[in-house]
Amino acid sequence: MQNAERSGEPAFGVYLHWPFCLSKCPYCDFNSHVRHAGVDEARFVRAFAAEIAATAGRVPGRTVSTIFFGGGTPSLMQPATVGAILEEIARHWAIAPDVEVTLEANPTSVEATRFRGYRAAGVNRVSLGVQALDDGALKELGRLHTAAEALAAVAVARANFERYSFDLIYARPRQTPQAWGAELARAVAEAGEHLSLYQLTIEQDTPFADLHAAGKLVIPNDEAARALYDTTQAVCAAAGLPAYEISNHARPGAECRHNLVYWRGHEYAGIGPGAHGRLNLAAGERRATATEKRPEAWLMRVEARGHGVVTDEALSNEETADEFLLMGLRLAEGIDPERYAALSGRRLNPRRIAILREEGAVEMTANGRLRVTLAGFPVLDAVVADLAA
Ligand SMILES: C[S@@+](CC[C@H](N)C(=O)[O-])C[C@H]1O[C@@H](n2cnc3c(N)ncnc32)[C@H](O)[C@@H]1O
Ligand code: SF4
Repeated sequence: MQNAERSGEPAFGVYLHWPFCLSKCPYCDFNSHVRHAGVDEARFVRAFAAEIAATAGRVPGRTVSTIFFGGGTPSLMQPATVGAILEEIARHWAIAPDVEVTLEANPTSVEATRFRGYRAAGVNRVSLGVQALDDGALKELGRLHTAAEALAAVAVARANFERYSFDLIYARPRQTPQAWGAELARAVAEAGEHLSLYQLTIEQDTPFADLHAAGKLVIPNDEAARALYDTTQAVCAAAGLPAYEISNHARPGAECRHNLVYWRGHEYAGIGPGAHGRLNLAAGERRATATEKRPEAWLMRVEARGHGVVTDEALSNEETADEFLLMGLRLAEGIDPERYAALSGRRLNPRRIAILREEGAVEMTANGRLRVTLAGFPVLDAVVADLAA
């Protein structure tokens, strides 16, 4: 069971980034690339193995509690590639008996045929990018699958994995709370224990950013987005899938444990092109790492030096505490103010907390945790900025 009481327990996650997609979705600014010539998976496996070994040399003796294959589109990998990478992880670190191993998958019929192979390779949870249950919206989002195809992939996931989740994007152009409520009700009926529900964000340097700037893509304003957010909370809470994080819903105990590693400020290794890590080195030092983003440049770097790390910075106590606040307040369970004080060497300002409480943006729980309220979540950035100031 994952609950607030366990949030202080050490956890160690391994994130692996697969940076390729069949095509680039016009809203997406993730580190993803299209390679028509094909990808040499064996070469990538060797490079992943080298980077895993190099990272294990820096943080030896860990027990891996979660592993996450993210992308890009990891469901383009052959199951044997996934299996080989998992074996490399197990050669260097101990693996917790209840390890969570998630793989992000695109919900096309071709990719669903690989699910059984992933399971045999050691994956025990899949997260599918369904995005919408409306064919017109899927087309507008540049997706390569229909709603029916996505739901068929969800059914294959359900047949192969005890744990699965899928993502939807809402606050799309012209979307009304009524239409979204109906779409979400259908989604909830197909969901297992977990759903990720993201508001459409216009990311810089994407085709959607250009369309938006030209007035050709109009997204809901703050008020309309707020109504859609309220619909999201109401439908999910009624279905027993309350928000445990600003965009993530789960039955209690079914949270994505890997993402909790980030949000609770624990330790994780970032492996593969453009992956980020946070490593706690022996001297009590927390380091922020990031690897080369471009896939071929990453490969060459790893082949030349044994790792693709291009950023490796010690975080000050203040930076670590601010990150803890920023990530932790995304969670419904909130943060332990004592942990903040231990990290930063100073307490959160009680006057600021009092004002935010009066405004209804934050609250203190019976066991002394500070958390953002449902009313506060839509203005989370402002709340965090206020507390960190
Ligand atoms: C790494 S991505 C993708 C997983 C997989 N490649 C896919 O597209 O199905 C993780 C999720 O982020 C969400 N996402 C990506 N860009 C977004 C944006 N601009 N606004 C809102 N959600 C976004 C999508 O729901 C997506 O499934
Ligand atoms: S949303 Fe997913 S499939 Fe589309 S470009 Fe981004 S990572 Fe690739």
